[in-house]
Amino acid sequence: MYAAIGEDGFARLVAAFYRQVPADAILAPMYVPGELVAAEMRLRDFLVGRFGGPSRYIESRGHPRLRMRHAPFAVTPAARDRWLQLMMRALDEAELPPPAGDILRGFFADVSMMMINRTND
Ligand code: HEM
Repeated sequence: MYAAIGEDGFARLVAAFYRQVPADAILAPMYVPGELVAAEMRLRDFLVGRFGGPSRYIESRGHPRLRMRHAPFAVTPAARDRWLQLMMRALDEAELPPPAGDILRGFFADVSMMMINRTND
């Protein structure tokens, strides 16, 4: 995957996702406004490492333990659906060459389910 879409593919995808976050009523309040650039870098580096590129994420953050790292945030089914919706839109926008887009769609759908840690209010 990294060989197919490269640093640039992941960078464009994650940028397209985070561009939508500040205007989103569910997700925006979960992020520290001044941390959005750093958050974008963390997600990008995680994906790059997970899909065969340099392991910058693990070098700077250690083992991902994503479910544990999301525990402080209220990831309700509604928040998960919104996160996935924004990510699917980002995938449309990034126009990654096939089959990268479909592989990432399946990956995000699965992993986002595992992040749910609260029920809807
Ligand atoms: C299901 C809905 C999700 C919500 C609402 C959510 C929300 C958040 C928030 C608020 C943060 C903190 C921002 C920061 O890094 O400072 C974060 C971090 C992060 N998220 Fe998510 N996330 C979701 C799903 C996912 C998924 C599916 C992945 C991976 C495929 C992911 C990967 C990450 C990573 C790598 C970090 C940085 C963790 C760290 O090193 O501290 N998230 N997420």
